[in-house]
Amino acid sequence: MNILILLGHPAPNSFNHALAVAVRDALQADGHRVSFHDLHAEGFDPLLPADEIPQAAGLPPDIRRHCDELKAADGIVIVHPNWWGQPPAVLKGWIDRVVRPGVAYRFEEGDNGEGVPVGLLPARTAVVLNTSNTPGEREREAFGDPLDAIWKRCVFGLCGVRDVRRRTFNVVVASTPEQRRRWLEDAVALCRNAFPAT
Ligand SMILES: Cc1cc2nc3c(=O)[nH]c(=O)nc-3n(C[C@H](O)[C@H](O)[C@H](O)COP(=O)(O)O)c2cc1C
Repeated sequence: MNILILLGHPAPNSFNHALAVAVRDALQADGHRVSFHDLHAEGFDPLLPADEIPQAAGLPPDIRRHCDELKAADGIVIVHPNWWGQPPAVLKGWIDRVVRPGVAYRFEEGDNGEGVPVGLLPARTAVVLNTSNTPGEREREAFGDPLDAIWKRCVFGLCGVRDVRRRTFNVVVASTPEQRRRWLEDAVALCRNAFPAT
């Protein structure tokens, strides 16, 4: 399978980085073709310019490549920390610029954007790996776990990816090396289950 992995975290020594690398290595070892993007390390520009908003806009080559990879992905893995209940800006900008009309969704004929979009992504399954410093129960009760709705409904659901498997690893700041080692194993198992070896 073609698997697209996106990492949104600025620190190469972060647990998020370790998660993304462990998943990348496991899926590659299983025979998948993996496209791996450490968006910070690549200097991805998250600012959507005005002239890129129209569906028919000409796109810079790097954004075109990201769109092509998204359209070619049979499976998608997203890795990022919870920052204010949202993805870090670099990943939010990837959504803004790459998950575009005509690439990830479209509107029905005669619909100017007020109707219900039709998802275009061929990927059947996406895995979202998050980290946070808030215990799960407090995240749900105090904040409503906004990342769950963002990925499952606002982004992947809208774009036609029905099977979205999400796991949040917490509380990272209080975790032991042994706990983090088990979390890495859990993340790999989750991804291997979502994307069986070819
Ligand atoms: C800008 C910023 C915002 C954050 N906002 C939240 C938050 O809203 N909820 C939360 O549980 N943790 C929050 N955190 C903590 C991160 O989620 C935590 O540091 C990260 O998940 C740990 O993983 P890492 O070691 O890979 O960075 C925030 C951290 C930063 C730097």
